[in-house]
Amino acid sequence: MEFTFNINPLLSDEITIIDSSFSNLQKFQRSSYDSHRNNLMQVIDNMGIASGKAQALPNAITSFKRLQYSDHRLYVLKDAFANNMQGAVVGILKMGRKKLFVYDMLGKQHEMEPLCVLDFYVHESRQRHGYGKVLFEYMLQQEQVEPVHLAIDRPSPKFAGFLKKHYGLKDCIPQMNNFVVFHGFFRDRPESG
Ligand code: ACO
Repeated sequence: MEFTFNINPLLSDEITIIDSSFSNLQKFQRSSYDSHRNNLMQVIDNMGIASGKAQALPNAITSFKRLQYSDHRLYVLKDAFANNMQGAVVGILKMGRKKLFVYDMLGKQHEMEPLCVLDFYVHESRQRHGYGKVLFEYMLQQEQVEPVHLAIDRPSPKFAGFLKKHYGLKDCIPQMNNFVVFHGFFRDRPESG
């Protein structure tokens, strides 16, 4: 997704992690802080809207405001060289913990707070080129988590295909909520859940 401004100063790394502290804005001088903050808001809000549309959701589940009042982390992948070197945003991946009741294979309920995939979107012009995998792999390394230990909020058919293809995740344990967990979810979990 392209913008009328240069996204490279805002998103300094190929993948930038943004949370409610918006630490990527801290380097800007007072005089330009507000305009950079507005630009970041546009980036997050427009990617959130596009993701919502791609999933046929009534509302975006990712926005600057929502991020501001959460403990979620938003991974943002960019192509620094696109759009005449102004850069383009390629995809987003939002992660966070949720208090959930999760059923195991025997139908026993467990109250837990697992790390969840909350929103995942690669721009239409870049889908099926491996960018989703790049973003997901980076997240796994940063969060120090195995794919099978994640809970997924309403995976779309494309994301279900992605999980099956890249991580062999296909057999889920039936749940009473919108979250999907796979066989192996309860095996060898770290202490932190
Ligand atoms: N139809 C079926 N499977 C697809 C499609 C598609 N149109 N696009 C990607 N996939 C799956 C396939 O398994 C594909 O492998 P294949 O091409 O060999 O069949 C694999 O993903 C490709 O892997 P990547 O190229 O690394 O993935 P991509 O960059 O396309 O990102 C993503 C995957 C994020 C799911 C992307 O397709 C997308 O943004 N889709 C629309 C939004 C969406 O559905 N997001 C997930 C919502 S659920 C949630 O966020 C918790």
